Amino acid sequence: MRVVSGIQPTGYLHLGNYFGAIRQFQQLQDDHECFFFIVDYHAMTHLHDADLLRRYRRDAVCAYLALGLDPYKATLFVQSDVPQVLELAWILSTVTPMGLLQRAHAYKDRVSRGLPADHGLFAYPVLMAADILLYGGELVPVGRDQKQHLEMTRDIAQRFNGCYGRLFEMPEAHMMPLVPGTDGRKMSKSYDNTIGIFDDPEVVEKKVMTIPTDSKAKGEPRDPEACALYGLFKLFVAEKEAEAVEAQYRDGSVRYHDVKLRLIDLIRKRFERARKRIAQLQQRPQYVRDVLEAGRERAGKIAEETMQRVRKAVGI
Ligand code: ADP
Ligand code: TRP
Repeated sequence: MRVVSGIQPTGYLHLGNYFGAIRQFQQLQDDHECFFFIVDYHAMTHLHDADLLRRYRRDAVCAYLALGLDPYKATLFVQSDVPQVLELAWILSTVTPMGLLQRAHAYKDRVSRGLPADHGLFAYPVLMAADILLYGGELVPVGRDQKQHLEMTRDIAQRFNGCYGRLFEMPEAHMMPLVPGTDGRKMSKSYDNTIGIFDDPEVVEKKVMTIPTDSKAKGEPRDPEACALYGLFKLFVAEKEAEAVEAQYRDGSVRYHDVKLRLIDLIRKRFERARKRIAQLQQRPQYVRDVLEAGRERAGKIAEETMQRVRKAVGI
């Protein structure tokens, strides 16, 4: 299957990004033809600083490579390196009803908070549809917050096909797991409840130690599913190990302090190699440029093939 997904260049990667995206990509790249790209055009809907955009884009590429994306298995590139995506976005926008975009959560939230919204934010889902359809995405790994965008992509593809004949296949969502933050809500930069993949060990330790746990007496049963600590712990260990700790929650013998110490150790070990690799990659800018150039070439070829068919179908 062809897998397509966009990566936001956010500048700070946390466990939510890792278990909710990066690790899923890493698994998918073994069995599928994958296209992963840094969505710098999308990032411009909230980032208007050229130097920061350049830095975040480079950091994101290095981080994804350090964390296990393999450029020999997956095609990794930068969205804006393949300009056909903007051409397709325009063409798709001519079959996208205003009403569809007015229902988009990101746009609606902004307007309901009385904040100014620009055309880029409004048109965000059309650009995302172009990302997916340009590369013939069949399976799209996305977090729950992106489900609506994928439905809109299908809607837009259907409208295009209705107008011009069946050119696009319907992409399917591959739902990724939700990772809890240190306060039990979704881990997110905007909630200040993150644990960073590349945080210093002392910072990780402090953050894990402050995860709130209940103060029930020993022997009283607890619900592991309601505990952020358990939610994070189980991401790092095999099922058997998670079950053993789950049993301790249920029979009330769990010692939160011990689970926290284990979690700190697991986080450190999991990202030890990536830490070294990212430092090396940052010293090898030419290698990173070569990876992106190879990605651009492969992605650009498919993009141009799609656009030739699209242009013919629409009369351009
Ligand atoms: P944040 O909420 O911290 O701003 P981003 O929007 O930058 O996170 O996240 C980029 C992608 O990383 C998301 O589209 C999603 O796939 C994944 N992701 C982020 N946070 C989580 C989470 N808590 N659980 C699962 N996936 C997440
Ligand atoms: N909107 C996605 C996010 O915020 C990123 C994205 C852009 C994307 N284009 C995409 C995801 C295409 C999947 C497919 O995370």
